[in-house]
Amino acid sequence: MDKIIIRGGKRLAGRIPVSGAKNAALTLLPCALLTDEPLTLRNLPRLADIDGFQHLLNQFGVSTAIAGARPEDFGRVMTLQATRITSSVAPYDLVRKMRASILVLAPMLARMGEAKVSLPGGCAIGNRPIDLHLKALEALGATIELAAGYVRAIAPDGGLPGGRYSFPVVSVGATENALMAAVTARGKSTLHNAAREPEIVDLCRMLVAMGAEIEGIGTSDLVIHGVSRLHGATYQVMPDRIEAGSYACAAAITGGEVTLAGARIEEMEATVQALRDIGLHVEPRPEGLHVAADGPLRPVTLETAPYPGFATDMQAQLMALLCLAQGTSVLTETIFENRYMHVPELNRMGAHIETKGRVAIVHGVPKLTGAEVMATDLRASMSLVIAGLAAEGETQVHRLYHLDRGYERLEEKLALVGAEIERVGGD
Ligand code: UD1
Repeated sequence: MDKIIIRGGKRLAGRIPVSGAKNAALTLLPCALLTDEPLTLRNLPRLADIDGFQHLLNQFGVSTAIAGARPEDFGRVMTLQATRITSSVAPYDLVRKMRASILVLAPMLARMGEAKVSLPGGCAIGNRPIDLHLKALEALGATIELAAGYVRAIAPDGGLPGGRYSFPVVSVGATENALMAAVTARGKSTLHNAAREPEIVDLCRMLVAMGAEIEGIGTSDLVIHGVSRLHGATYQVMPDRIEAGSYACAAAITGGEVTLAGARIEEMEATVQALRDIGLHVEPRPEGLHVAADGPLRPVTLETAPYPGFATDMQAQLMALLCLAQGTSVLTETIFENRYMHVPELNRMGAHIETKGRVAIVHGVPKLTGAEVMATDLRASMSLVIAGLAAEGETQVHRLYHLDRGYERLEEKLALVGAEIERVGGD
């Protein structure tokens, strides 16, 4: 198995290109099922999760063609066309590897009148139920059946009528499924307490480009007027705000200075505020976001929250940075119940972090030391890379398949700004 070897202590400086957003791409791709016309996605990141989703769509008979894939390029262009759908079943062996597969449920239901999807697996960061996805689809008129590890959604003859649903908890994925079901419903649908993450805005914008009628985009109240059919479109995937934030932490922990080319500050305000509170200079520039370390790192107290709050997907990376702050930080994870798997590994590198339930207390230490580490989810793995960049000596990060799910050519991007990092085969 491959591993990444980092020799820490190099100051990062320069420009890192930000890729297309994984979490946006994973909800834009299934929209190909909503039309028989071609859908072209630009700036699609090259990631294991995207390849997995493409494979899943191919199983349904969706054709996919890739352009702009010179080896040296980041990102690529994919054209998808679901002229005829040959299956409406998403099987266990494909779905278990990728939780986002649940996002085929609504578009398949909308297009075919029926869909059967294996219950998902994915990141091991808590229970992660899908009850809200199912309740929202029911509110829009679907019948839901659960049997033998599969969920089956069925629309009445003539299609979903549409309806009203108020989410008891903000859910990104459930909002996405509800939106994809509502756009071609027969009537009007209203979603209250919907997630308003930038990736949801990206989904809404693409659906509108395909002919959908959505009001309230960017707010937590969405009104969708169903249309009889959607058409093809060409759409540019938004930049990955979590990737950008991760590289900001990477530069900061080395006392460095980077320009995150393509990053949009307006989609990252809570992260930018946290970085500023820690003492970094962060400013928008025409090319992207400029982040510079200046002086000691200050501790912070913050909690994760749905957008526009501080993203749970940035918690582990920020925690790595705070390990070297001068003082004690307090982080509270409010979204997922089991998202501190990086803590024991960071402590093995010399960090001093205690957890009490959902709270992590990070006592700043003067230095970290390299170690062999591994993590069991994507962002936790990135936090170990960030720690390794500042640690004395060598850090080896194992289980790279997590990083490959969500960071496009991580080691190349970090090497571009001066990190001493390499991927080697074998264990
Ligand atoms: C998405 C992101 C993930 C991010 C998360 C929160 C993708 C592919 N993944 O995940 O990276 O960490 O948003 O920003 O976009 N919940 C329920 N019932 C449900 C659905 C969710 O109780 O049916 C709970 C979850 O357990 C969690 C909370 O709602 O506590 C938020 O989860 P949700 O926003 O749905 O996360 P995902 O869409 O899975």
